[in-house]
Amino acid sequence: GRGTSGAHFNFKPIAPVSSDVDEFTVPKGFKWEPVIRWGDPLFSHAPAFDPYHQTEEAQALQFGYNNDYLAIIPDTHNPLHGVLVCNHEYINEQAMYPADLFSVDPYAIARISMMAQGLSVVELTRKKVGSPWTYVVDGARNRRITTDTPFTLVGPAAGSDLLKTVDDPTGTVVLGTNNNCSGGYTPWGTVLSGEENFDSYFVGQNTERFKRYTIKNQRSPHGWEEVDPRFNTNNPGYENEAHRFGYIVELDPQNPTAAPRKHTALGRFKHEGANIHVDPVTGRVAAYMGDDARFEYIYKFVSRDRYIEGNKAHNMTLLENGSLYVAVFTGNSEAEIDGNGTVPADGNYDGAGRWVQLTDGNRSLVPGMSIEEVLVFTRQAADLMGATKMDRPEDVEPSPITGKIYAALTNNNQRGVSGSAAADEANPRNNNRSGHVIEMIEDGNDVEATSFTWNLLLLCGDPQGDEPVYFSGFDPAKVSPISCPDNVAFDSKGNLWISTDGAPDKIQKNDGLFRVGLDGTNRGNVEQFLSVPIEAETCGPVIADHENMVYVAVQHPGEDGSFDQPHSYFPDYVPSGNRGKKSTVARHHGTVALPRPSIVQ
Ligand code: FEO
Ligand code: CA
Ligand code: CA
Ligand code: CA
Repeated sequence: GRGTSGAHFNFKPIAPVSSDVDEFTVPKGFKWEPVIRWGDPLFSHAPAFDPYHQTEEAQALQFGYNNDYLAIIPDTHNPLHGVLVCNHEYINEQAMYPADLFSVDPYAIARISMMAQGLSVVELTRKKVGSPWTYVVDGARNRRITTDTPFTLVGPAAGSDLLKTVDDPTGTVVLGTNNNCSGGYTPWGTVLSGEENFDSYFVGQNTERFKRYTIKNQRSPHGWEEVDPRFNTNNPGYENEAHRFGYIVELDPQNPTAAPRKHTALGRFKHEGANIHVDPVTGRVAAYMGDDARFEYIYKFVSRDRYIEGNKAHNMTLLENGSLYVAVFTGNSEAEIDGNGTVPADGNYDGAGRWVQLTDGNRSLVPGMSIEEVLVFTRQAADLMGATKMDRPEDVEPSPITGKIYAALTNNNQRGVSGSAAADEANPRNNNRSGHVIEMIEDGNDVEATSFTWNLLLLCGDPQGDEPVYFSGFDPAKVSPISCPDNVAFDSKGNLWISTDGAPDKIQKNDGLFRVGLDGTNRGNVEQFLSVPIEAETCGPVIADHENMVYVAVQHPGEDGSFDQPHSYFPDYVPSGNRGKKSTVARHHGTVALPRPSIVQ
């Protein structure tokens, strides 16, 4: 292959796969198989998956739906055992439930769906390092986190009047986590998970506080308020319930009885995820974060205290005290930006940036807003401080090798539309269909820096298409087309990997996973590694290239189909047979003709 990362993990990039293909495609010489699928039992007392007779009690004991963020964590003392953690971001009712169930029992649909979301923790085992994992039924750390699971609110806004409800007069205990999208694995062994599109589960009020988070005063898309009154903020006692979602959650996968926490110090918005960098000099940690909506912001949290190697109890407090910042980007060729993606005369989209401080511990630095208001209505605080409106910030992740930060800006079809912000050097394309990736470098490589430099790594798209593209000078004729960057990860050599979530109807290709070189003559070289089936999104990449393994979460295969007329048969490929892909698929084959979101290795 023409792999460029050295002796390990060479592959010949695959060709883009057409968006009508229901296949999981990997390079020649690679194989794939599922680790775990929606409905697989985590416990021996869980019923076998039977989607015709699904119940909330069964779903609460089974792997959930629409897996997004993924962590694969080998045990430090025994790498043949480990634990998998993943987010179950949302549900596709029409693909999950038989049509007649909708008319018979909408209450059951809502309750089953509440159990299908949240998080899963599942133990894994393997025969040797580098061989495939098998999940362990009844593993001691197995756990389902659902809409019923108690969470502890921590940080400066915990206990605030803005977070109290009739069920929780202390403002410190919330039931459930929702719309958990991406996340990050901390150096102290916990998982961070971002509560993203929580607005879709609430009925809001006609105030700016709700409107700024697009929580509408109308029936919610899933109608959960008809089953549980707390999801309607017009119900007396539940005015604040929606203020208790939209946080970064921290979960200790090694402690199955500990309540997960919601971190108010990291602000409330549509959190994509959070990723940590420990400053090698000061030991303070930064968490980099994106607010995934059009024209929203990139944030950084910096801890007050220092990381202490080996002291997990202490390190688990680092995200409770510190400072929250929001990013301002300034280009050095702004006047030349025409919105068409024309590369500026200096040859780069680049410039300087500032981190504008919103909080300092328990103190607000935003005029007219209390500390609780800044942390609960963080979008309004960032508006007041003049943050730069970005093209949907998804993963924002520091390289563990260089500390440089990579932000995926997935797309923005409203950029440049009248009444909206026009293109600037950091978001240089109007009607930005395919998105871009920004590289940020903290001044002095210091996580506490309040200034940084930045440049665009990629202006995504198909070089053979009609969009202007940019690959940091790499020959566009030699790259894989890439659109709508979403999750990012790094391999052991420091290459960037990008998974995509592009609407296939726009780009006519299935989503995939791509390796991108960052250094030297390989910088900007995009190589497609895999492609997911029809209507699916590639999520949660874990790149264990040193073990010759890659793991992805295949979310919403066949999303536009229905239970009765599936668009996908991934991953079991019944009733049309297992298609001879490989024998290990047959080992897992089910008897149900349904697409099942899965973790794949
Ligand atoms: Fe759930 Fe921002 O993707
Ligand atoms: Ca420039
Ligand atoms: Ca995402
Ligand atoms: Ca990531």
